[in-house]
Amino acid sequence: MSAKPISVATLAAMKARGERISCLTCYDASFARLLDTAGVEAMLVGDSLGMVLQGHATTVPVTIEQMAYHTACVARGRERALLIADLPFLASATPERALANAARLMQEGGAQVVKLEGGGHVVETIRCLTEQGVPVCGHLGLLPQSVNLIGGYRFQGRDADSAQTIKRDALAIQAAGASLLVLECVPAALAQEIGQTLAIPVIGIGAGAGCDGQVLVLYDILGLNPKRPPRFSRDFMQGRGSIMEAVADYVAAVRDGTFPGSAETTY
Ligand code: KIV
Repeated sequence: MSAKPISVATLAAMKARGERISCLTCYDASFARLLDTAGVEAMLVGDSLGMVLQGHATTVPVTIEQMAYHTACVARGRERALLIADLPFLASATPERALANAARLMQEGGAQVVKLEGGGHVVETIRCLTEQGVPVCGHLGLLPQSVNLIGGYRFQGRDADSAQTIKRDALAIQAAGASLLVLECVPAALAQEIGQTLAIPVIGIGAGAGCDGQVLVLYDILGLNPKRPPRFSRDFMQGRGSIMEAVADYVAAVRDGTFPGSAETTY
């Protein structure tokens, strides 16, 4: 493992070489240190912290103050992995809000990339952010911040029309200057096609092994989910003696393509 800090350019070069990228959510300094040592390439301060840390039923209550606070905690523990932070619910509702809130995540929190959910309607916002020097990660497929609108955590892109919309949005997000794209809960074949079409790395969650990388919620891979964990996740603590071993095995399984397996994939 190289100790050189990882940038969006490093991840683009990994994609070009056909090397898979491992990413995990992270919300504090101690886990950041551990994830860095275990060799993850990217850490996501996800607004999933609203569910796994704060106990909310959705990510909607999470505020920009809370995101900036947890991002700063992770930044103090991290040395190597790329630090991505979520713009929470409505924090990117307009380009002006997105710029102000991205400044908070980067200047107060130390984020290196900001992630925002959505398709066509956020493309202009992504363009504004990237023109101002803010590296952006898009997020398509299942959009957890829209759970109240879509009525649940439903798989996306199953029919031809919605698959077409996701493909079109992915291209538009790349054209607006995004450096990365997360694809959540879409069929494996659709994710693979998008990954092969885009030049930027596509990181999947519940999107099959054909993506350029994988992201999971840290608490799910450590078996800390008190509810039934998502089918696309895996408990890497099973049979391991330590958290470090579990995380290192996740990194290895992403790298060699054995995670996700067919039981964790929707085709
Ligand atoms: O908030 C989060 O943890 C995320 C991942 C599920 C991709 O956005």
